[in-house]
Amino acid sequence: MTQLEEMKFHRLMDRLASDPRCLRMKRYIQHGSVTTYEHAMRVSRMAYVVNLRMHAHADETKLLRCAFLHDYFLYDWHEKGHDDHALYHPVKAAENARRDFGISEQEMSIIASHMWPLPPLRIPMCREAWILTAADKVCSLEETLFRR
Ligand SMILES: [Fe+2]
Ligand SMILES: [Fe+2]
Repeated sequence: MTQLEEMKFHRLMDRLASDPRCLRMKRYIQHGSVTTYEHAMRVSRMAYVVNLRMHAHADETKLLRCAFLHDYFLYDWHEKGHDDHALYHPVKAAENARRDFGISEQEMSIIASHMWPLPPLRIPMCREAWILTAADKVCSLEETLFRR
């Protein structure tokens, strides 16, 4: 990112990233040695860059809010009782984000579809949703393979 892009990214992210409710994501491991908070930050950065470089013209505020909250499910999915985590957590994250930050119906659907094609019919319906599901997959794979 250029210095200007970096500054803009931080300006868009600062409030959510420093919110005490979001800081709870630091307690949970997402992949390898990466916490959910760090993962959320990496996915946000990736989504922001993809949007810029592809000239996708997604709404940056919406994109970053959804990217940062896409895994806001707030539990340790490695513990017992979370066998259906992959399928269930996007909906849980969307509901938590709605409860804590009052996100819109559309933002809920962007978060809920981030695991597409799991399930196949929870389809990303806008450019923000497509960018998020792609950015999450790239970051998740990289974290799983290389960040142990
Ligand atoms: Fe996720
Ligand atoms: Fe994720």
